[in-house]
Amino acid sequence: MAKKIFSGVQPTGNLHLGNYIGAIKNFVDLQNKKDNQCIFCVVDLHAITVRQDPKELKNNIRETTAAFLASGIEPEKSIIFNQSLVPAHSEGSWILGCVARMGWLNRMTQFKEKAGKDKEKASIGLYIYPVLMAADILLYDATHVPVGEDQKQHLELSRDIAQKFNLDFKSPNFFQTPEPLIQKNFARIMSLKDGKKKMSKSDPSDLSRINLKDTKDEIVNKIKKAKTDNEDMPTDESKLNNRPEIENLLSIYSSLSNQNIKNTIEQFSNKNFSEFKAQLADIVVEIISPISEEIKRLEKDTQFIDDILLNGSQKAEKIAKLKVEKLKKIVGF
Ligand code: TYM
Repeated sequence: MAKKIFSGVQPTGNLHLGNYIGAIKNFVDLQNKKDNQCIFCVVDLHAITVRQDPKELKNNIRETTAAFLASGIEPEKSIIFNQSLVPAHSEGSWILGCVARMGWLNRMTQFKEKAGKDKEKASIGLYIYPVLMAADILLYDATHVPVGEDQKQHLELSRDIAQKFNLDFKSPNFFQTPEPLIQKNFARIMSLKDGKKKMSKSDPSDLSRINLKDTKDEIVNKIKKAKTDNEDMPTDESKLNNRPEIENLLSIYSSLSNQNIKNTIEQFSNKNFSEFKAQLADIVVEIISPISEEIKRLEKDTQFIDDILLNGSQKAEKIAKLKVEKLKKIVGF
């Protein structure tokens, strides 16, 4: 069945292997399936929920767009745009914010993590961020939303908002309830330094992640230094219990070589760690280095990138504006 796909990535710099494996790689696969309609958004309105340097933000919007293109998202097949160029997102988000309940937002674990101890000082934007995310998805009648595991709760909130709106305003099918598309084994790529922590752009240690713009030498070095343990390579999946670092490295290898973990375990069961790490470094370099070089090439051509975003936003605007007009009518404006 044809799917309507929507997903977004924040332009906050340091795009990493977790973003690639958990999200962007999947975007490309979905785009290349017949009949799917895909919309991929650089969510700059989300980015300003924490303080951004204006100049850096502009560069990061272009860099994230370049990363989409370099990874294989094609503007001829998918709509690529940045959120702030389409005012319907902000308008829709306000209306949905009047449908969502405080109690629902209070449960969002990502707010708790990001706000930290001093949540009184967090921006209101950070708190209502999942409502904006619901607007992003619902305005395009998206049926499927490819994301990493960390966005699952936000997706569930989008579904709750859609259902409550439909019910409150007696408009049974106005909003679609979107399905998350979360890849089973690759939805949570972990830090290279601590297998219990998610790979994240905000980790102070650069050695914890492979950035999409890392050089070959940096990649090789980071994999060499990645944490492992003193046991042998596992011989079957049951041997992965309590070995999160090993499981993570095997997942990365499996995703990039398009095979399941079971096959990867078999492939390396009688090898030692240094052999496995060498081959892991090879495959990461093979996949990520061309992307890295292409990002660096593309982001120099700011006019080209800006044109893609402008063009994509015009297409997105057509869809989202129409939905917001209908939404306003239902609400009584
Ligand atoms: P963001 O920008 O934090 O991350 C972009 C995508 O990368 C995934 N991801 C990971 N996947 C696996 N392992 C990791 N370590 C890892 N780190 C990040 C995220 O799950 C995400 O899919 N709120 C969203 C952006 C957003 C959005 C939307 C997504 C805004 N509106 C509408 C879908 C639909 C976010 O902050 O993603």
